[in-house]
Formats: sequence, C-alpha cells, structure tokens
Amino acid sequence: MSNNQVKLYYKNVTSQVLGQEHGITDKQFDGLAKKVEPIVERIEAQRKAGEIKYRDLPYKTDTVEQVKKAAQSVDDCENFVVLGIGGSALGNIALQTSLNPYMYNLDSAQRKGPRIFVMDNVDPVQMGSFFSWISDKLDKTVFNVISKSGRTAETASQFLTVSEMLKKRLGAGAVKEHLIATTDANSGTLRAIADDMGLRNLEVPDGVGGRFSVLSAVGLLSAAVAGIDIDELLAGAAQMDSKVSQASFYQNPAAINAAVNWHYYNNAKRISVMMPYSYALKDLADWYRQLWAESLGKAKDLTGREIFVGPTPVKALGATDQHSQVQLYREGPNDKLFTLLEVKEFGADVTIGSEPEVAPELGYLAGAKMSKLLNSERIGTEYALLKSGRPCLTVAFDEVSPYTIGQFIYLYEATTSIAGELFGINTYDQPAVELGKEATFALMGNEDYAELAEKIKPISEIDDKYLI
Ligand code: PA5
Repeated sequence: MSNNQVKLYYKNVTSQVLGQEHGITDKQFDGLAKKVEPIVERIEAQRKAGEIKYRDLPYKTDTVEQVKKAAQSVDDCENFVVLGIGGSALGNIALQTSLNPYMYNLDSAQRKGPRIFVMDNVDPVQMGSFFSWISDKLDKTVFNVISKSGRTAETASQFLTVSEMLKKRLGAGAVKEHLIATTDANSGTLRAIADDMGLRNLEVPDGVGGRFSVLSAVGLLSAAVAGIDIDELLAGAAQMDSKVSQASFYQNPAAINAAVNWHYYNNAKRISVMMPYSYALKDLADWYRQLWAESLGKAKDLTGREIFVGPTPVKALGATDQHSQVQLYREGPNDKLFTLLEVKEFGADVTIGSEPEVAPELGYLAGAKMSKLLNSERIGTEYALLKSGRPCLTVAFDEVSPYTIGQFIYLYEATTSIAGELFGINTYDQPAVELGKEATFALMGNEDYAELAEKIKPISEIDDKYLI
C-alpha cells in the first residue's frame, strides 16, 4: 500500500491571507465547525444504518473479484468500448485519463491492455466515424454497456446499434460473446435484456446513484481491463474514508472542504472553479462537475420548501486556461471559489531545450524541467488570484496513482454528502433530469409520451418571425 497522500490546503481562504472581506476568520471557522461536526456524526449514523451505500464501496471484495474475473475473460481483446452516459461514463473517463498514459490508445508500447473508448454521447458524426473505424475490428472488440435503468435514450441507442452491428457482421451468437452489461441487479430494461440474452453482467449496486458509482463495477471494469490497479484505487478510497469519517472538524478534509464551499456560497461566491494543474487530472474535474451539480442543484429543501440552491461547478485546466479564463477570474466579479489541483511528483519529466542565440531572453527556460514550469505557473496563478482577493483551496497530490485517485474520489464524494446536508437538500436524487429525458422519448415518437409531445410543439416548431 502506498504512503502517498492527497491533502487539502486551506490557508488561502483565511482572513489571514485575504483579509476580512473575502477571507474566513478563525471565529467563522469555529462557527462552521460547530455546524458541521453534528452533520458528520449524522452521516456516519446514516451510513451505519445502510442509507449511504456508496460509502461502503471500497470494502466490496466480492465486486472486485467479479470485476477481475470479467476483465480476465476479455484479456485478448484489442478494443474495449464503454457505452454509457452521465454517471455511467464520467468516472470511467476520469480513471482512464488520470491513470493511463496520454498516448495510451495510439501507442501499443505505452499500454497494458486494449484500447479504451468511452462513448458518452449520441453525436451522429462522432459515432458514425467511430463505428466506421471499429466495424472491421469487431472480432477483437468487447463492449461494456453500462446503465442502471437501461432506458436512458443515449445508452439504449448505442446498445441497439452495436448489437445489430455485431449480429450483421459476426452472426447472432456474437452479441453474447462481445457484450458485457453492467446494470441493476434485479430490475430495469437492461437487466431484462441481459437476462433474456444471457449476457455476461455485473451489478450497479443497489442504492448507489450513477454519480457515486465510479468505485463499483461501473468504473472498475474498464479500469481493470486497462491494467489499472483497482485494489490500490479502493485502498486509497478506504484510507480517505478513515479521514472523512472523523468527527473533529479540523481533522476532516471533507468537512472543511464542504464548509468552505458552503460559506462562500452564502457570501456571494456561488461559482466553484476546479483547476487541475495536470492533464491527467483534467477529466476528474468533469466528474466533479456532475457530482457537484446533480447532487447540490435543487429546487426544494428536505421539508419541501422552495430554495433553488446550488453552487455552479466550473472546470478549467492549468496552464491552458490561464490564457483563456484568468483575466475574468482576476478582474471580473469576485464571485468564485477556486480549487487548484497540485501534483508534487509527476513521475515523468521533460527537459526544455536550449535557447537560440538571437533569443537570450528565453534562456531562463533552457534546461529547466517542464514539471517545474507547470508548478510555477500554478503558484504564479494562485498568487495572482490571491492578490485580487480571490479565495483558493488546493488539493495536493503527492503523485497521481491509483491510490491517490481513490483518495480524491472518496474525498469529493464525502464532501458532497456533507455539503448536501449543509444546504438541507436531498443529495442523492436528480428529479430535474427526468423531464428532459421524457421530452426526448416524446420527440422520438414513444407513444407513452404522446401527450407530452403535444405540449412541446410550441417550442419545437420554429416561428419564422423570430428567425433572422
Ligand atoms: O448520476 C446519475 O444518476 C445520472 O447521471 C445517470 O448516471 C445517467 O442519467 C445515466 O443513467 P443510467 O445509468 O440509468 O443509464
């Protein structure tokens, strides 16, 4: 087990650094501690009562065994394609980007498993191009269709298309051979299909919503197939569990993270920007956006009162977005909390070439390491943000490894649970996503939604008067 850690650094949100107007004073921190400590205890009690099931995922050894077995069963494939969307895709993407080399799919020397693709959309151009590339490689391809419900239009359409392609190209028996389903254990459309067709299958655990499911078979299978050490991933999550379960506010990084975010939401900073200074961590920021947005964006509190609450999560990438967003971040409205992701040891490095004679001004770069440049850019940007009175948290990774990624995932899931309690909302539902899904069913001609299709007409039919 690794000793490497993920830690939260919060000095740069304090009044000591930012002054009283934008910083949090010791007194305010003590007030937050008083509010959050009972919440942490309540969450621990709910968890013990089996009400917060994602918290137990790091300990599901039976799932790990099933996932490893399924991964071994496809170890001769050359392409592994995940079909899914939202919580059934973003965790997979985040794990692949963070733990596989940048050139993984293109360079066989840089990968331990098959090429990995996660198709989290139904864009006809993108999908058309992909299907045309994969169509003569189907005999060496395995598809993992992931859907808790099985009725999500995007995933269902991908599944239907792939099944037909497999049947046409390789014969009726091929579907069973080339498809693994990950779905609800007992109910839902994909469960019915998997049982009927006799597909190999894994379970989306009962009581675990999509955006909290990355440490279940949902995210673990593609990771294991790619050769990522899933034991270490879960060990990292378990290690973070011991930290985020602590009742003492000042010992608990999830408690402080949630409290700082909640404090700023209530003090005119309702936008939360996550800015990784590491390409590997970039898609974890996408995963975080869904976790934060779907969990905390709610119209009603737990008593049914309308509150329309929720911080807006934004993703930016260091250093790329310094040249795109930082002008706004420093001189625009002071309405954001920044969370920078720092990597101490990148594990690989590039030495910058020497400067030409005509450009001695580039000499400061010559022979330096790119890791030093990127980390200097992070510190420089943080300094500049603080100079403008903008609060900054940092999540520091000793290194990017399965162990630290497991820690980060668990830290943010636990943070979200605490933040949900602070906002007084149901963290685990997503009622507002339903209407859009149903409208799609209606527009695609699903008879059960004919009435809704009529209601949509006034906005779906273009009024030429307003078309210029
Ligand atoms: O987090 C969630 O619950 C959602 O993003 C779902 O994962 C997403 O809508 C896909 O749903 P399903 O897994 O049922 O296809």
